[in-house]
Amino acid sequence: MLFPLIKDLMQVPAESQDLTIRGWVRTKRELKNLTFVEVNDGSSPESIQCIFDRRRSGHTLLPPSAETILGALPTGSSVVIQGRLVPSPGSGQAVEVAAYAIECIGDAPSEAYPLQKKRHSLEFLREIAHLRARTTIFGAVARVRSRLAFGVHQFFQEQGFHYIHTPIITGNDAEGAGALFQVTTLDLPALAQSGKDPDYGADFFGKPAYLTVSGQLEAETYATALSRVYTFGPTFRAENSNTTRHLAEFWMIEPEIAFANLADTMQLAEAFLKFLFTVVLRDCAEDLAFIEKLEKIEKSITARLQKILDSPFVHISYTDAVAALEKKASSFTFKPFWGCDLQSEHEKFLTEKVVGGPVIVTDYPKEIKAFYMKLNDDEKNVRAMDVLVPRLGEIIGGSQREENYTRLENRMRVMGMHVEDYAWYLDLRRYGTVPHAGFGMGFERLIQYITGMVNIRDVIPFPRAVGQVEF
Ligand code: 4AD
Ligand code: MG
Repeated sequence: MLFPLIKDLMQVPAESQDLTIRGWVRTKRELKNLTFVEVNDGSSPESIQCIFDRRRSGHTLLPPSAETILGALPTGSSVVIQGRLVPSPGSGQAVEVAAYAIECIGDAPSEAYPLQKKRHSLEFLREIAHLRARTTIFGAVARVRSRLAFGVHQFFQEQGFHYIHTPIITGNDAEGAGALFQVTTLDLPALAQSGKDPDYGADFFGKPAYLTVSGQLEAETYATALSRVYTFGPTFRAENSNTTRHLAEFWMIEPEIAFANLADTMQLAEAFLKFLFTVVLRDCAEDLAFIEKLEKIEKSITARLQKILDSPFVHISYTDAVAALEKKASSFTFKPFWGCDLQSEHEKFLTEKVVGGPVIVTDYPKEIKAFYMKLNDDEKNVRAMDVLVPRLGEIIGGSQREENYTRLENRMRVMGMHVEDYAWYLDLRRYGTVPHAGFGMGFERLIQYITGMVNIRDVIPFPRAVGQVEF
């Protein structure tokens, strides 16, 4: 068994046994004969307070080596401390460690270590992403992220969904939006020098290949065999969107269900979000409480999430949504009209002003949505749904898929796609086709929404965005 973490040690009955604390020094301060060392090991936002009593009635209590270590113990150094857990007379913690031995494992010279006691801006911390996990805020976000990832699997596994690993390198553009990163082993500098066009036949895969923008198309092949599947993996978009809600590499969860329609995906999406909110409220309460205490971040995360749990999501058709927006047309930079792609200002308005909470917008014009969505009988709209939330806008996008071979093939041709490249996808409609539907949720948008973190780059350990690929 591994040694217990600080989180576990704080639960041990006081005075019961000698303990060993392993972690990184957050702060050290001295008061008369006492030295207080706050140690954190990332098991929870709480640090444990270790108190060294150095002298009593003129007698030295600690060995000289411990005196020396304590004398020069900088923030960020790693330590192993021995002591006994005792009830704390001070406010702020129930227990503390009456410490009698300390070993400094790794120094962190204060003139160089960038994380000093003072509060650092999130922008500064982004530049030292290799060290920022040692701050309480990034520790909290990392723990929330980890719990949510587990929650995603729990939710789907409990309902008979199978986890499918869809490929990261692919030969298709699942969204038809052209925002692809190309994967190649061709000698690009040599090609550029020769002025010749690349010969993809001679490339690694014998044809152009890309990083996937979505695992949906491959997930559909398994849904039409295993009935209920989901993917949860990295996805890549070469969109030049330098915003607080776009990443070039993000994680997406995509359930896909056979014998299902648009209404089923809306129900599933709502149940999924509510399950994750419940889990995080129950299991990450300490971390959420810590985040709420921070400056510049929302003060009422838990109240906001709790309120959402208590009421059903509002549904509105795209047409009705646009009508509501048109009434307020003067308040938008981009004037809304039927047929327009909803801009983030529109999504914010709908969630924040019209509904005051999450809203599911359905039945979008086919022109602004992907080729695979099922056409409504009016032949104008598709069976699409987006879940929008205040502050962020779209958090989930989904649809019922076109299961009719002829209609799908026509739609692909109209959109100028190379139908031959998608023969395998069309086969699903040729052999044993069924109505099926699914959605995709951006994992970072979820974490952003839950934690109130303003910038998506602060909810993933190493953000990749336009002009940003450090670490
Ligand atoms: O709406 P999108 O593009 O839908 C799809 O990819 C479908 N194949 C999903 C499906 O039906 N299986 O993306 C889905 C979600 C968005 O709602 C958003 O939360 C997130 O992925 N997303 C991004 N997150 C961060 N950075 C980006 N650049 C994102 N693009 C999409
Ligand atoms: Mg979308």
